[in-house]
Amino acid sequence: MASLSANALVFFAVAWAAWCLASLRANLSRARATGLPYVILPCSVLGAPWLLTQPVLLPLLAALPESWTAKWLPLLLFNDGWHNGYEPFQRAGGDTFLAVSPGGVILYTCHAEVSSQLFRDTRLGKPAHLMSLLNIFGPTITSTDGAESRLYRRITAPFFSEATMRDVFVGTVQGGGQLAQVLRQPAAHHHLRDLAAKLSLHILNRFCNQAETLEDLAMTLRGDDKPQGTHRMTYAEAVFTLLENYMTIFLIPSKLLRSSPSHTHRQAATAYAELGRYLQEMKGQKEAELQQKVPALSNKPESIPELLVQSGLPAKDGSPAVLRPDQVIGNIWVFVLAGHETNANTLTFIILLLACYPVTQRAMQADLDRILGDTPPDQWTYDTHYNPLMNSFVGAVINEALRLFTVLPVIPKYVPPTGPPISITIDGHVHPLPPDTVAFVNTSATHRHPQYWPRRESSEDTTPRAKRPFAVSDFNPERWIQKTGVAKHGLLSPPPGTFIPFSEGSRGCLGERFALVELCASVAVLFKSSSVRLLTRGEEGGEYPEGELADTWEAARDRAELALSEGVKFDMSLRVVRNVPVRFEARDSVSR
Ligand code: HEM
Repeated sequence: MASLSANALVFFAVAWAAWCLASLRANLSRARATGLPYVILPCSVLGAPWLLTQPVLLPLLAALPESWTAKWLPLLLFNDGWHNGYEPFQRAGGDTFLAVSPGGVILYTCHAEVSSQLFRDTRLGKPAHLMSLLNIFGPTITSTDGAESRLYRRITAPFFSEATMRDVFVGTVQGGGQLAQVLRQPAAHHHLRDLAAKLSLHILNRFCNQAETLEDLAMTLRGDDKPQGTHRMTYAEAVFTLLENYMTIFLIPSKLLRSSPSHTHRQAATAYAELGRYLQEMKGQKEAELQQKVPALSNKPESIPELLVQSGLPAKDGSPAVLRPDQVIGNIWVFVLAGHETNANTLTFIILLLACYPVTQRAMQADLDRILGDTPPDQWTYDTHYNPLMNSFVGAVINEALRLFTVLPVIPKYVPPTGPPISITIDGHVHPLPPDTVAFVNTSATHRHPQYWPRRESSEDTTPRAKRPFAVSDFNPERWIQKTGVAKHGLLSPPPGTFIPFSEGSRGCLGERFALVELCASVAVLFKSSSVRLLTRGEEGGEYPEGELADTWEAARDRAELALSEGVKFDMSLRVVRNVPVRFEARDSVSR
């Protein structure tokens, strides 16, 4: 019996090895036909074998001499894309190359010309089959392709009007004012990212979903909010717990999670169930409102759920509903996800970068004073203040943070498996990409490409620190300020494909303007009245080992740089997971 199973095992291993070799040969010939350079990988970064065995294999592969693995191993570490930056392209010797494995062919690019073609060519889709991760409540705009995603986009796009932006600007100034008060409390830095997430979730919920008031934010920021009715978690708690445990919820059925001995698993199951209920309630409430609604006085769609729910109801002329209930719920959820995580993380990066660069912070505050003067925040408006702010150091800081901290380090594209090859052109040479090719536009590498974005020549920092490869040492908002030429008072307008934090083309970020308006208003309100500074260990109340010299600001900055490099992690989006001790203080009281 034992020898029978050993024989079966050997047979299986030989058959699998033969399949791998045959597939690799076939994929290599597809790759060669493109005329593009390629790197051979033992397996596909997207395949189940690698995803399942990675925890065991990775330490073994990492122990091999670097010269054996340097070219291909970084390509298997999907979540390290941001950390690796431009390096994999430097090693591969080109800005566009293929990774060939038995599992398939993947195109990697950080070449602006190629990225622009991939974004513009409407024959290219998105690899929806690889993104089903986002469809936990139903199909979503981000994880579908072709006619289906176009339908969701058509339904929801009217929400992102100038009228909405006016509301978002004013609402963010109000909410940001409350955040500023909470951030001035001692030790608030321990919760910096969570507090930023509370603000952005509130903005999303208040304006996209019409489901919250400013008073709700005040309670959430103080931690005084309680679950309502029969709910076991508040809405914010359900969203944050679900995001903390996203992979667990995606991979393990709820039934198993609920009966798991692990408290975290049971919390994850509760968060999933609770959020599902909140989304259903939102849908139910909108249905009731729409059924009673008197004809609208204005054409302004009030919320994303309203647009989706409307499309989920039969039309007045009797024609059937355009969306199924799961499509309505799935899309309400994805706007919550896409619209708050990214902004919360970007705002956190901006705050920490400004703490590391006090001179830049003061230059930005000088622009805030010039533009806003003594106008009280409740009189700031989108029409008067948004453009001047975005054309000043405020816009420059936001753009530079988006450049260096690409919350979505990779944007996937896809050559449909059933159509003909789709060609890209590089320096006049045509390269046909075969059907079923996944293409990764690498935003992190693009934004650190030495030709598009030469490294800063540090004006503020002349120490060897400035030469470190950390993204933070390259932070240079001044590069965005136009001092000469036609756009004298505006910001640099980078060539297409070189600055792509929101992607470009027909699948570009639907919430780009929303995101920028929210970031602009929150940065303005936080930094008009307060400044942020790094804390030394002494100021933080930390202890020194005996005999150690007192901590310095420079040492605190070194630690912050490390936190903004080693302490940055990508899961659902890029975020800083290591605490950086900072303090917000009323502007007049800040010295340094
Ligand atoms: C700093 C903030 C943000 C960044 C950097 C960002 C970035 C992106 C990127 C790169 C994509 C394309 C993803 C892909 O092709 O796979 C995208 C798509 C999307 N974003 Fe954003 N986003 C931000 C904020 C927002 C906000 C505030 C909203 C909504 C209120 C939003 C809604 C969406 C939606 C609905 C899509 C899917 C569009 C489609 O697939 O057709 N995003 N975003």
